[in-house]
Amino acid sequence: MTGRITGTGSFVPEINVSNEELSEIVDTSDAWIYSRTGIRSRRIAGKETVAEMGAEAARRAMEKAGALAEEIELLIVATCSGEFLFPSTACQIQKEIGARQAVVFDISAACSGFLFGLNTAWAYLQSGIYKKALIIGTEKLSRLLNWEDRSTCVLFGDGAGAVVLEAKETGIEGMVQHANGEKGEVLTCREGHVGIKGINPFDKEPEAEQKTCGLEMEGQEVFKFAVKKVPECIEELLAQTRTTKEEIKYYLLHQANSRIISSAAKRLKEPEEKFPINMEHYGNTSAASIPILLDELNRQGKLQRGDKLILSGFGAGLTWGAVQIEW
Ligand code: ACO
Repeated sequence: MTGRITGTGSFVPEINVSNEELSEIVDTSDAWIYSRTGIRSRRIAGKETVAEMGAEAARRAMEKAGALAEEIELLIVATCSGEFLFPSTACQIQKEIGARQAVVFDISAACSGFLFGLNTAWAYLQSGIYKKALIIGTEKLSRLLNWEDRSTCVLFGDGAGAVVLEAKETGIEGMVQHANGEKGEVLTCREGHVGIKGINPFDKEPEAEQKTCGLEMEGQEVFKFAVKKVPECIEELLAQTRTTKEEIKYYLLHQANSRIISSAAKRLKEPEEKFPINMEHYGNTSAASIPILLDELNRQGKLQRGDKLILSGFGAGLTWGAVQIEW
C-alpha cells in the first residue's frame, strides 16, 4: 500500500505587487529582480490569514478528490508563518473546513515543509494507520519580511496549496529527506516579542528579546546549498526507485529562483522544459510553492495517469528532499 494524490487545490491572495511597485519602496528595479530571480510579481495577503488561505486551498483539493472534510483522518499543515504559536494552524484549518475526525498538526521545515508533510502522511498511510490525509502548505511570509531590506523583501510571496493523499496500490514510489542544522544560520527568522508586556524578571540576560526578528538570509550561501543538494538528492531518489531520468515527465522544484532551477537542470543533464516554473507570478511562497505548482499543472490537464513526477524542496534548517510520484 502506498499513498496517491487524488486531488489538488491552491489559493493565492488578490493583491498583486509588481517589481515596479517594489522599486517605489526599496532601491531596486524590475531588471535586477527578474534577471537575478525570474520573479516579476508576487501576491501579498491583506486580510487573509495563513489558516484562511490554507483552508481555501484544502476545500479546492477535497472538491477535486471528491472527498468530504469529515472523511479526512489526518491533516498536516506545513507553515513557518502562522499568526499563532498555538493553536496550530492545522487546528485552525480543521475548524474552518470541519475536518472533525482528523488528527491534525503542523510541521516546521520552512520551504521543505510540504515535502516533509507529504512524507509523514505517506508513512501513516503505508503503515495502515490512516487511509485519507490532507496535506497543506500555506504561508504569509509578507508578515515576516523586513520591508526595508531589498535583498530579501523582493523574493517572497503569499499563498497556499493542498493535496488529498489516499491509501492506494500506486502513487508515491520513493522519498529522500535531509536536514543539516549546522548550516541553519544562513537563513533564519527569529520570533518577535512585540506586544508582550514586561521582560521576564527571572531572566538576567534578556538578550534574545533585543535581537532583530524577521527573515534574514545569506543569499549566496543558500544559492550554493540549493544548486548542490537538489540535484544530489534527486539522483539519490532515482537510484532508490531504480528509475531512469527518461521516465520522469516533470521535476517540480521549490519555486525560489529560476537560476537555481536552470542550474539543477544542467547538473542533472535534463532539458529545462521538464522543470515547470511559476515563480514569475508568485515569487517564493515557501511551503506553498510546490503544491501551488502541482495544482496548476493538474488543472491545466498536463498530468496524465501513470506519469512519473519528482517534487523537490529545499529551505531553512537547512532542510531538503525529494519525492517520486506515479500520477
Ligand atoms: N535590487 C537591487 N540590488 C540589489 C537587490 C535588489 N533587490 N538586492 C541586493 N542587491 C545588490 C546588493 O546590495 C549587491 O550590491 P553591491 O554589489 O553594491 O554590494 C548586489 O546587488 C549583489 O548582491 P548579491 O547578494 O551578491 O546578489 P546575488 O547575485 O547573489 O543575488 C539573490 C541575490 C537573488 C538573493 C541570490 O543570492 C539568490 O537567489 N539566493 C538564493 C536565495 C533563495 O533562493 N532563497 C530562498 C530559498 S530557501 C527559502 O525558500 C526560504
